[in-house]
Amino acid sequence: MSKTVLKGNIVYAKDKDKLEIHEDSYVVVEDGKVKDISRELDKSYKDYNLVDHSGKLIIPGFVDLHLHAPQYPNRGLGLDKELIPWLDTYTFPEESKYGDMEYSKKVFTRLINELWQNGTTRAVVFASVQKNSAKLLMDMFMESGLGAYVGKVNMDRNTAPSLTEDTQVSIDDTEEIIKEYENKSDMVRFIITPRFAPTCTEKLMGSLGDLAIKYNTPVQSHLSENQAEVLWVKELFPDSKDYASVYDEFNLLGQTRTIMAHCIYATDDEIELMAKNGVYAAHCPYSNYNLSSGIMPVRKFMDKGVPIGLASDISGGDSLSMMSIIAGTIQASKMKWLETDKELKPLTFSEAFYLATKGGGSFFGKVGSFEEGYEFDALVIDDKELADIKDLTIEERIQKVVYIGDDRNIVERYVRGKLIEKPF
Ligand code: GUN
Ligand code: FE
Repeated sequence: MSKTVLKGNIVYAKDKDKLEIHEDSYVVVEDGKVKDISRELDKSYKDYNLVDHSGKLIIPGFVDLHLHAPQYPNRGLGLDKELIPWLDTYTFPEESKYGDMEYSKKVFTRLINELWQNGTTRAVVFASVQKNSAKLLMDMFMESGLGAYVGKVNMDRNTAPSLTEDTQVSIDDTEEIIKEYENKSDMVRFIITPRFAPTCTEKLMGSLGDLAIKYNTPVQSHLSENQAEVLWVKELFPDSKDYASVYDEFNLLGQTRTIMAHCIYATDDEIELMAKNGVYAAHCPYSNYNLSSGIMPVRKFMDKGVPIGLASDISGGDSLSMMSIIAGTIQASKMKWLETDKELKPLTFSEAFYLATKGGGSFFGKVGSFEEGYEFDALVIDDKELADIKDLTIEERIQKVVYIGDDRNIVERYVRGKLIEKPF
């Protein structure tokens, strides 16, 4: 049984409204899980391996709840467009390349290294449609030591010809991966991934819903990101009450654990349905700015009890840094409040920090916090060059790192109690 103790300034968000701060304390980790946090180290732990990070900050690893691995080479490109033209001109041509395993490996190597570098210890990821590339991505995450859900994208209409799957092949390929990876790893798991309703026929979505239930496999997709997209879904599914109901009718909305990205234009009924079904919303503020999609009313979702996490959505989003995305989430919520609705109070720092750690982490289980029994995913942060001008509280130091620090301040990363070195 592995037994470790780390010493430092320990910070986490158990609840959204307050950071838990244990200054100059010890966190005891047994078998990858948090056992105890204390100011003095109990004698019973004296034989444990002690890692002394006195003066530094120890925080939970970040969780990125939605990103597209094959879009990594497109980061920063074409972001003067809106969603649908951007998909057609930039995204689909790039995603067509992933029949090439050498190219896939080159891209995924860079992506996983960069996730590691930015302190993202768990991620929920779209691959492209090609099954072997999706399997390679799962294998590479396993090798890296980071935690992930990975999905092979399903599309059988309204996409580039090179990405349009035969419906039955798409279903069979998905089931093949589910079965092949069912017992391979509990750190890297498969997630069913219909890209979004416009690129999937009813038959495809129905069969994916059946697979989700048959194998108890989670689901991810996109929901109500862009106004033209919402209208398109209305045209394609005239008999459905709304966009969320389309997924719900096919058992793709919380019948198994589900994440929907964006949810900007979800109606009150849709938000209530998500809350009722326990569907996660992945908030992607930079993507929403870049593609002029809009701003998700995060406060409203929170008040109605929808579980929420934060996400990069590269390459709609340009940054993989969850620290920047925490800041971006607060900024977006302030503009929403100011420009649209004075009822939607801007998010506080602790709320946004919570969403980037325990909020998204809860999709993985007991992840994203340092409460007893939580998996010890952690970052050690050296902020001495940010915090040596005037006296700062520990909470102020965290704020400063999040807003003006970067990956250079992250000196160690742990996943399930294990120190993770640069993967590739
Ligand atoms: N909706 C459908 N596909 C995508 C995608 O790749 N990125 C974003 N941001 N939205 C989508
Ligand atoms: Fe996306």
